[in-house]
Amino acid sequence: MTAKVDGKSDTLVFFGATGDLAHKQIFPALFGLVRDEGLNMPIIGVAKQSWSLDQLKDRAADSVKTHGGDIDCDAFKQLLNLLHYVNGDYNDPDVFTELRKEMGDAKRPLHYLAIPPVLFSVTAAQLAASGCADNARLVVEKPFGRSRQSADDLSAILDKYFSESNIFRIDHYLGKEPVQNITYTRFANSFFEPFWNRNYVRSIQITMAENFGVEDRGKFYDETGAIRDVIQNHMLQILATLTMDPPTGQEHEALRDRKASLLKAVRPLNAHQVVRGQYEGYLTVPGVCPYSKVETFAAAKFEIDNWRWAGVPIFIRAGKMLPVTIAEAIVEFRRPPRETFQETVPESSGHMRFRISPDVTIALGARVKKPGDRMIGDDIELILTRQPGQDVPPYQRLLGDAINGVSELFTREDIVDAEWRIVNDILDNVTPVHTYAPNTWGPTETEELIGSDGPWHNPVLAGNK
Ligand code: BG6
Repeated sequence: MTAKVDGKSDTLVFFGATGDLAHKQIFPALFGLVRDEGLNMPIIGVAKQSWSLDQLKDRAADSVKTHGGDIDCDAFKQLLNLLHYVNGDYNDPDVFTELRKEMGDAKRPLHYLAIPPVLFSVTAAQLAASGCADNARLVVEKPFGRSRQSADDLSAILDKYFSESNIFRIDHYLGKEPVQNITYTRFANSFFEPFWNRNYVRSIQITMAENFGVEDRGKFYDETGAIRDVIQNHMLQILATLTMDPPTGQEHEALRDRKASLLKAVRPLNAHQVVRGQYEGYLTVPGVCPYSKVETFAAAKFEIDNWRWAGVPIFIRAGKMLPVTIAEAIVEFRRPPRETFQETVPESSGHMRFRISPDVTIALGARVKKPGDRMIGDDIELILTRQPGQDVPPYQRLLGDAINGVSELFTREDIVDAEWRIVNDILDNVTPVHTYAPNTWGPTETEELIGSDGPWHNPVLAGNK
């Protein structure tokens, strides 16, 4: 497929320059782009902290150092030379007049809104009124809204000032090497297709486990919860990547079209298909309401209403304070239709396993005979690939793509809408929230959810499984 490229951006403006996302992701990504790809364009940070440019440069140094970068190298010095700073409130038109001046003769600016979504509307309007939005691209971060309706309202606002082809919605999971590897492996081999359907697949499980809590993000998290934070976006992207139909044609939208039609076929969840949990100790996290019912864990059973997947249960679980930090998907194959030997082949012996983090693994689980007289077997895994981690961090890859106008790894308005449609009826307190102890796999109710489609496969770090 050919990526559609429509001119490279020549100036990068990022709002929220003094914030958390800039420190955690944007400065390291910019540093990587200067070092690896020779990024060479004005980079203008905007914030309302009354900082000086020197303070912004110190922040950049702290960020790059914290994330393992070398600040004594030429690339970092070059990054500092590219930095500019505009200070002020996003409600103030003068700030945008100054920004327009600072942008000089930029012809294809890229504006990155690393700010809370409540500020998107005013910022987009000010960009337009000041001329900063002319021929510009816009990068926005998830969460895109808090529900289907609010996402729709947000889109309507952005659509007023930017065309869809100029809006880049970041779901950083799409920039991950292992996620691209799932797409690649599925469609670069013809042998998958015949058994990648309801006739051969018994169930699919996707687990995103984190062995840490919400840490310093109490306030954000307590307004968000696991379903909005990772299931509505990252997890549904994985589900779509695993189950979409093969893309056709050479159009650059082919992949996103397939994903959109898959997600539109997923049935909206109801309260019986969801278990929510909250880890013990969450209520004492700074920024969290002491009576909060927000979930730090969620498990759900999904169904896809199409010919390929009808009747195949798909389970997703994601949570904080679980025993390990691993993201992994298992596609379980059906057992042989009859037992040929004097043993019962375990439900999960045939499978494909896709590890998304911390390492990148694709493995095929099969049963082979144990040496000896008896016809009994062992479950083994054939490792198709195992790589340590990822070389290009997702934000670096995605920011580079946005600068180049390559939109394939960003999510589209109809995809975001389809994702909200799936979770919309189970948001907030539609279901009870059960407490679970840290270092466990969530509330016991998740066992009832999976029932005879189980057991859950709890990923482990060392070895094959
Ligand atoms: C973010 C969520 O989008 O993804 C976090 O807000 C989560 O809560 C994070 O921890 C996980 O991403 P990664 O790349 O660290 O696995």
